[in-house]
Amino acid sequence: YPAATIHLNDVALFAQAAVTRPQNSHKGSYGIVAVLGGAAGMTGAPILAGRAALHAGAGRVFLCFAGPALACDPGQPELMCRAAHGVDFATGVTVAGPGLGGSDEAAHLLEQAIASPQPLVVDADGLNLVAARSGLAARLRGRKAATLLTPHPLEAARLLATSIGTIQRDRLDSARRLAAALHAIVVLKGSGTVIAAPDGAIVINPTGNPALATAGTGDVLAGLCGALLAQGWPGWEAALGAVWLHGMAADVLVADGVGPVGLTAGELVPAIRTALNRL
Ligand code: APR
Ligand code: MG
Repeated sequence: YPAATIHLNDVALFAQAAVTRPQNSHKGSYGIVAVLGGAAGMTGAPILAGRAALHAGAGRVFLCFAGPALACDPGQPELMCRAAHGVDFATGVTVAGPGLGGSDEAAHLLEQAIASPQPLVVDADGLNLVAARSGLAARLRGRKAATLLTPHPLEAARLLATSIGTIQRDRLDSARRLAAALHAIVVLKGSGTVIAAPDGAIVINPTGNPALATAGTGDVLAGLCGALLAQGWPGWEAALGAVWLHGMAADVLVADGVGPVGLTAGELVPAIRTALNRL
């Protein structure tokens, strides 16, 4: 890959993409996020992603369930819930993968999301499906719009058909290899999240702490990525911004005593909104 300078993720690298809200704007000005996920027994993951997308400013957020669809999220009635079957993913940004499961139906839905000409975030089971089915990987590589992949080290290992040890031994190289292999912006998560682009650009994120080592924080990050994309942030800035804001929200909460022990993913959501409004 091209030689590239390693940067530390900083607001200066992405804050110019932050959206100001014109007085005469309306929800249509801030985009649509469709979260594709929620196989039977895994409804919490898309809810967390959707709540994050809503609180990060997306105009409208849909939860599209691969399994039995919830009528609504009673804790967040602004989210519009439906069965994923038959949804047109071309109307906005798709966040594909939270709790999606590994069924043939899930793969079929993911294939439709990948075919959308709009920006796409693939996380969690979406990544596992891409790792398991070479046809999906080929379609992913062929996409023209921004594509963000947000693997944790095990998901990255599956995508590169290697071990976690190999991924973690050289996280910069792993992220670069993945970005080059799948022609996508890669967010390799974990302490010191690495963001890599297919052109060789690479950045290490300094925000965040072990309070984030709890279930669902990755789902929140995926939804946040989707919201920034839906508001028109370019892919690279959306990836840098989402990772930085997600970590900063956790850092602020820990400074306030909400963690490191016992922070929950849901508590991160309003803290991300505050960090975004203070950019
Ligand atoms: N320091 C900084 N950040 C951290 C740390 C740490 N020590 N530990 C975790 N994080 C951050 C990661 O960088 C990432 O942004 O917390 C988030 C964790 O994301 P995931 O690993 O995806 O965890 P989770 O949200 O529980 O995933 C949900 O999807 O990926 C699947 O199998 C996974 O069942 C799980 C589900
Ligand atoms: Mg995850």
